[in-house]
Amino acid sequence: MERTKIRFGAASRRDLLKGAAAASLAGAFPMPAIAQAKPVKVGLMLPYSGTFAQLGENITHAIEMYIAEKGGKLGGREIQIVRLDDESKPELGLQNAERLIKRDNVDVLIGTVHSGVQMAIHKAVTESGTLCIVPNAGAVGVTRNLCAKNVFRTSFSNWQPAYGMGVAMGKRGIKKAVWVTWDYAAGAESGEGFKQGLEANGGQVVQTLTLKFPETNFQPLLAQIPGLGVDVVGAFFAGGGAINFVKDYAAAGLKVPLVGSGFLTEGVLGPQGAAAEGVETALHYGDGLENPKNSAFRPAFKAKAGREADVYAVQGYDAAQLLGIGLDAVKGKIDDEANLYKAMREAKIDSPRGPISFSKSQEVVHNIYVRKATGGLNKVTGVAVANLADPGTGCKL
Ligand code: BEZ
Repeated sequence: MERTKIRFGAASRRDLLKGAAAASLAGAFPMPAIAQAKPVKVGLMLPYSGTFAQLGENITHAIEMYIAEKGGKLGGREIQIVRLDDESKPELGLQNAERLIKRDNVDVLIGTVHSGVQMAIHKAVTESGTLCIVPNAGAVGVTRNLCAKNVFRTSFSNWQPAYGMGVAMGKRGIKKAVWVTWDYAAGAESGEGFKQGLEANGGQVVQTLTLKFPETNFQPLLAQIPGLGVDVVGAFFAGGGAINFVKDYAAAGLKVPLVGSGFLTEGVLGPQGAAAEGVETALHYGDGLENPKNSAFRPAFKAKAGREADVYAVQGYDAAQLLGIGLDAVKGKIDDEANLYKAMREAKIDSPRGPISFSKSQEVVHNIYVRKATGGLNKVTGVAVANLADPGTGCKL
């Protein structure tokens, strides 16, 4: 789904503002209304089709909801949204990102969900200097060795939730685990987080089993599990793939408990049904979190989207909140990059997940909760790690 909007060149936009400001200072004539009133163009590069479609839709609903709550303006400027379906296809990522940046001339790119696509966006935004806010994809490089002053993340690094689950399992006395996932960055980086958390607490990951993204023929992997002698099976899957994996796992009748990064059961408990009952996961959001922001957010989101809020909606909402804080600080002057980025880096956000802030590498810092799927809810049962920051290894910001 894509909407094309009026185009303004980045250079001509800057020139127009500069020229108008100079003329105004010189007292020649007042600043033309057009320079003030022009909307900030926000490109949403997200999946609206494929296994992650619902994730992209929920992020979009929440961004639109926040902008509507602010009367359609952030920092005093109208916001104009341009959507692009990235289909979770890394091979199309660069051309899609460049289309938004060079053809549609977006001022800000909010995207995406899939880590492989994120790496393509990262190349495009670091080359062009376009402000980018990541509302889901956890690719660790984005806020580690490849970190950039114009890139912020309001979601998580792939390492964070899985590390939390590893810590929780290790503290519970789990000694041996297997990690099962898709063979791409998010699966591998989550697996590394789970391993580090478990190892730091006396356990180990004895094997990793993978299949190609976004395949769902899990039987050959599930067949190997009984022979491994593990205490738990840890997994990363999300969206449509997570629905199938949890159902197939239950149908296989394995006696080993299934655990994972919270995406395994997030936003998909309805279709997973009884198969998900009892599955424990770790994430930065969950059911039963009581705070005033969440109490207002959930019914508002349901009214807008027609379904319950989930972590993807929260991350989208916080991406819009972060942009709002930045634009407020510079009174809508998005070209004032130094002050825009400073305000965003220093932002303390009241998120539906609880308070969040940002690390030096511009990665979100937040609590990682343990949840248990119970009667259709991911009920929070405790905090795995409080205020967990990604290590940010290699970032020089
Ligand atoms: C990722 O590719 O980074 C990702 C996708 C869905 C959920 C979580 C992470």
